[in-house]
Amino acid sequence: MIENETIKHQLNHRAIRAFKDQTLSEEQLTTLYEVARHTATSMFMQQFSILHITNEEKRKQIREITGQKYVGANGDLFIFVIDLYRNKQIRKQMGNDDGRLHTMDIFFQAFQDTMLAVQNVINAAESMGLGIVPLGTVNDDPKAMLKVLDLPELTYPALGLQVGVPDQEPQLKPRLPLEFTTFENEYPRDFEVSELKDYDEIVQTYYDLRDANRRIDSFTNQINGKKLNTHQNKRDDIVEAIHSQGLALDFN
Ligand SMILES: Cc1cc2nc3c(=O)[nH]c(=O)nc-3n(C[C@H](O)[C@H](O)[C@H](O)COP(=O)(O)O)c2cc1C
Repeated sequence: MIENETIKHQLNHRAIRAFKDQTLSEEQLTTLYEVARHTATSMFMQQFSILHITNEEKRKQIREITGQKYVGANGDLFIFVIDLYRNKQIRKQMGNDDGRLHTMDIFFQAFQDTMLAVQNVINAAESMGLGIVPLGTVNDDPKAMLKVLDLPELTYPALGLQVGVPDQEPQLKPRLPLEFTTFENEYPRDFEVSELKDYDEIVQTYYDLRDANRRIDSFTNQINGKKLNTHQNKRDDIVEAIHSQGLALDFN
């Protein structure tokens, strides 16, 4: 396998959930923004924005939505926003209509742009010795989140990212072996859960710092458990919230 500085950092990735009481320097912040800015972008439409949440009250409100104490605590909190508002203004002010801005297709492209920017920033941050944790929990109450951020139509807060100086050293979390996730030309349908026995054992020996240093359940048990079991929660509001922003409506 090839080893260089970039790959070394990527292979060493682990989510950090405890940060030192220190914020990013102007130089670090600008670097992360520049990296995001240079990310590939579908059809050159540049459909994302980044909100840096420095207001204490907003950080607190976001922390409450996520239910995770490290959100908006030490370090810097960013919300990566799917953003079609800017392009709408361009079209509007140039005398045109919204065109395809409300379609699922354009929403999907904006989502792709946004996620690529997040990962680019993650790679850069980790290469700078910083730690990160992506925050899907910003979607735990989509309607409340839209209110806290006071976002205009055609925008949606897709993912949060807490960045800072690590104050913990978690173990590397074992991933599925490549044979289960990489295929050539054809997708094999003959997967058997029993093939994951060895991987399950590896996962069970991993200690998750998030869970008071306890060992975590096997991978198959996690997938077979509450993460994917049917249950009602506010995350189910996500489609309604996205539609309320005029996004992914599937018509022109
Ligand atoms: C899209 C996405 C959303 C995530 N949301 C959260 C989150 O809200 N809170 C959290 O503590 N970790 C979150 N994580 C981190 C994952 O739990 C973590 O990446 C996974 O358990 C693997 O661990 P590792 O990143 O340390 O290897 C998220 C990761 C991704 C990719």
